[in-house]
Amino acid sequence: MRAIEEKAARAYRERFDQEPELIASAPGRINLIGEHTDYNGGFVLPCAVGRRVAVAMGRGGGELYSTNFDETRPMSSENDSSWADYPRGVVWAINESGQGIEDFRAAFAGDVPLAAGLSSSAAIEAATALALEALFGLDLERKDLAVLCQRAENEFVGVGTGIMDQYASLLCEEGAALLVDCRSLQAQSVPLDLDGAGLALLVCDTQVERGLADTGYNDRRAACERAAAALGVEYLRDAGEEDLKRLSGEELRRARHIVSENARVLEAVEALRAEDYGELGRLMYASHVSMRDDFEISTRELDAFVELAGECDAPGARLTGAGFGGCAIALVRGEEADALSQKVQRIFAERGFEEPAFYEFVPAAGAEVARRAGDSP
Ligand code: GLA
Repeated sequence: MRAIEEKAARAYRERFDQEPELIASAPGRINLIGEHTDYNGGFVLPCAVGRRVAVAMGRGGGELYSTNFDETRPMSSENDSSWADYPRGVVWAINESGQGIEDFRAAFAGDVPLAAGLSSSAAIEAATALALEALFGLDLERKDLAVLCQRAENEFVGVGTGIMDQYASLLCEEGAALLVDCRSLQAQSVPLDLDGAGLALLVCDTQVERGLADTGYNDRRAACERAAAALGVEYLRDAGEEDLKRLSGEELRRARHIVSENARVLEAVEALRAEDYGELGRLMYASHVSMRDDFEISTRELDAFVELAGECDAPGARLTGAGFGGCAIALVRGEEADALSQKVQRIFAERGFEEPAFYEFVPAAGAEVARRAGDSP
């Protein structure tokens, strides 16, 4: 078992004075390319990171304990704007789907940085969903679980996100990115052997609170919906470059990002299949420019990181996730990650920005049941 899974198991024993019946965990994610395309019915290419939320679970009780917050909250059908709303939302969504689950208790432990744009919320949802599926023998596939997790987030927690994060957390495979068609909900793994290519993914958390993120996110979503309606299509996924001529102003800029970004995701998949990392990197930089100028979701910190990555000859860099703060990623040659992070640290300090945090990730495994009662330790 992973250390974080051991931690959840230990917390369960200490808190509830018994052995958990099973332990599961699910990862956070970064997105290689394909931003804000998910709720436009388009394509995304995320991969799971090596930080996870683990849950130890057993029948009975009705208490939820978090080691991160060191507090116990009741399982409830009410929302109280706390971390517990994520597991509660998953239970609510499973019940809504007509599958029955009994009382359970759970202890959570996680090392996905919170509020950094690495999807700690999808990780706790996915870990909860997979554990409940296994504990109560629900007849649900991973894709169904991901859709239920998204429903929990949209309707119970009240955040109108797309399907990318939950799909990534539940369906990613080690050593691969996940191409998702967010309209058909078909997904396929695309091998991403960074190590083999002498490359690494450097993640820079700019530590900028995504304060306006929710408003900004909803505004972008609304503008995309207006653009789709003006073009007479259900999703901007169905619009092409020609159609853009019929738009103007904000709708044109937002739609131009979505149309070009969808094309870039498919080109990035081709580049990965051809092991052409130079081309993948070029697409990442182009994606950043589109998010900065057309979708307008970047910040001066994210722009600075991407610029410095360019100066350091990193093959690719872009902001990742919702934007308005949070994280950027760079594709770097293995030995150059340190030089880039030191330079970024220095320049951020000179400009009076918050001190950034850095992580290096290789594409990790999606959600897993780590142990059931009766498994040999
Ligand atoms: C957030 C949302 C996702 C997606 C991204 C932007 O992470 O949760 O559904 O829309 O922003 O690509």
